[in-house]
Amino acid sequence: MEKYKIAVIPGDGIGPEVMTEAVRVLNRVSELDGSFGFEFTTYPWGCEYYLKNGEMMPADGMETLKQYDAILLGAVGYPGVPDHISLRDLLLRIRHDFDEYVNLRPVKLLKGAQCPIKGVKPEDVDMIYIRENSEGEYAGSGAWLYPDSPQEVVIQNGVFSRKGCERVIRYAYELAKKENKTLTSISKGNALNYSMVFWDKIFAEVGKEYPEVKTYSYLVDAASMFMVKDPKRFQVVVTSNLFGDILTDLGAAIAGGMGLAAGANLNPERTFPSMFEPIHGSAPDIAGKGIANPLASIWAASQLLDFFGHEDWGKKIIDTIEEMLVNQDTLTRDQGGTASCEECGKRVTELLG
Ligand code: NAD
Ligand code: IPM
Ligand code: MN
Repeated sequence: MEKYKIAVIPGDGIGPEVMTEAVRVLNRVSELDGSFGFEFTTYPWGCEYYLKNGEMMPADGMETLKQYDAILLGAVGYPGVPDHISLRDLLLRIRHDFDEYVNLRPVKLLKGAQCPIKGVKPEDVDMIYIRENSEGEYAGSGAWLYPDSPQEVVIQNGVFSRKGCERVIRYAYELAKKENKTLTSISKGNALNYSMVFWDKIFAEVGKEYPEVKTYSYLVDAASMFMVKDPKRFQVVVTSNLFGDILTDLGAAIAGGMGLAAGANLNPERTFPSMFEPIHGSAPDIAGKGIANPLASIWAASQLLDFFGHEDWGKKIIDTIEEMLVNQDTLTRDQGGTASCEECGKRVTELLG
């Protein structure tokens, strides 16, 4: 029997609550299938760990993670530890050092989920965002000069390499071609006269290899307006790290909320483990109350199954989530229900069989 070795980093706030349910669902899937299984190892890294040990993970943490087939991550960040430390030293470090340069984020309105936009139907919101995930605005390049003096200056560089842009744009073209969908690039060449002009140039260059893919290019400001006014324009979307971060929270809002939005951080070459996570944060406002929605994490678990070639199970999980939304069955408060996080996760396992 094939056994996948999974490192679980529950992290902070609601992270551990929602991760328990994602693991529960994966265990149920392996029981039902019988031909593959999971071996989970949990690492207690995060803000509490930092407060005790002065670091977000041990010095050999990346070496440890390298041995796994995949990583499941809950959420990182909590009041008491500066966000730029907690996130850069754990989540962003893993994405960068494991070259998880594709951040695949579905923005899909399931039947029964609440869309805040009047008149929008589930078939109108069915996008797949490909967010560049290794460089760009998140490269961490810059300087802080003359701190705390009247001359104080900060510089935050965007780093856009040819290799970095080409590979993520090519991934998006390949996906659009395979799925026979349109591809939209979102950038901002009218103001960012180096980085985004370069991005647009590479989008056009790589596009020459894919004459069969119908493409669109939008400026990010107009794109955010169209996401709300006319979401069906978008099918496969490719964009930079920061724009992708912002637009996928907007995407989450139009597709039922943060409790339903998942993302896969992929190293397509499989040299390093890929990482699967809900896109929401640690939600300190509801942490410890047992009311977080675990469906985003369970959706991320379905992406993990897709990644290992078990797309049938991946789809079954999404169909189950949709069935629960349609029937208003055992949903958490953010979806208008009264169920706890645990009850919601357990209901998914019951419905799976
Ligand atoms: P957040 O996503 O944690 O919360 C935003 C709002 O959405 C809150 O009202 C929260 O209650 C709600 N929400 C989020 N997930 C939910 C769920 N599963 N069920 C029900 N409601 C949910 O964003 P924030 O408040 O801006 O950030 C809190 C912390 O998390 C910060 O430290 C931030 O840096 C960090 N963060 C981490 C990640 C990550 O680990 N991937 C992502 C985003 C933010
Ligand atoms: C996300 C998060 C992270 C990001 C933060 C926590 C660094 O917002 O995964 O969307 O900006 O990528
Ligand atoms: Mn985000």
